[in-house]
Amino acid sequence: MMMTGACSDSGAGPAARRLQVRLQRIDYAAEAINILDLAATDAGGLPPFEAGAHIDLHLPPDMVRQYSLCGDPADGSRYRIAVLRQDDGRGGSRSVHALRCGDMLEISAPRNGFPLDMRAGHHLLVAGGIGITPMIPMLHVLERQGADYSLYYCARGAGKMAFRDEIDRLARRGTAHLFFDGAAFRVVLADLLQPGAQPAGTHLYHCGPAALMAAVAQRTAVWPPGTVHAEFFAAPAGDRPAEGAAADGFEVVLARSGTRIAVPPGVSIADALRQAGIATATSCEQGICGECVVGYSAGEPDHRDFILSDGERRTQVALCCARSHSPSLTIDL
Ligand code: FES
Repeated sequence: MMMTGACSDSGAGPAARRLQVRLQRIDYAAEAINILDLAATDAGGLPPFEAGAHIDLHLPPDMVRQYSLCGDPADGSRYRIAVLRQDDGRGGSRSVHALRCGDMLEISAPRNGFPLDMRAGHHLLVAGGIGITPMIPMLHVLERQGADYSLYYCARGAGKMAFRDEIDRLARRGTAHLFFDGAAFRVVLADLLQPGAQPAGTHLYHCGPAALMAAVAQRTAVWPPGTVHAEFFAAPAGDRPAEGAAADGFEVVLARSGTRIAVPPGVSIADALRQAGIATATSCEQGICGECVVGYSAGEPDHRDFILSDGERRTQVALCCARSHSPSLTIDL
């Protein structure tokens, strides 16, 4: 699952590199949740990853799904992902659960839209359900560095709680708080997130179902900019309507060639580029993965992604979902 913040490999645009991996091992992690270990197929190994990173997993016939890496970033021998089977979903998780050891798979290199900010005085990790996955590498890093943190994690029952043993093993300082009752979890969260409840310098990281994400966002709306980090499973409902130039269409200018391309209403920048014959890499097409992010040097984007931080938005834009407040937008392509 996915996914805000800096990308370790946020270079969008043409031809994202794919890696081939072998499904080395499958472990049962909790009810309907399997952990898959993916190993390199050659001696070159796997690119390193940071806590919070995710990969795209390419599945037959033509599906791409994003999954957070849930292993220890210090372990360069494998990538681990945990996948909750959703029988009423779009089919990606069912396909993953049908995979067998030895299967060869294609993935992207890791991208990180949900990095730890190690300048934080305290790290507050909030996870619901399978939203625990990006938090596990964070636990490894925070424990290794002796950082000040606390984890609040809720699952709908002990049998549905993945990574419990690993959390118990890692979080020996009483830093993990586990819940099996959503109502009790919501009460605790309301206390945790009220103004002044956390030490100055706290950064919050949250990932989980839409209701949890919305509740945390609402309660942290007045937190200092840049201190609340979110990883979304899917773009939150309720997209903002386009206004001004964004509603009328606009123009993108390619900085390297000066080529100007019209972006009509209802067409994404990425699609307009493709229609003009310019290869443009996208993955989630929902503004949550970072694959399509590029720099821009002129114009005023109407950012509609859920991946870029406020700071990154001053220089970067997600081509799959951004519009433009200005009549033209110059992008670094
Ligand atoms: S394709 Fe995922 S953020 Fe644009």
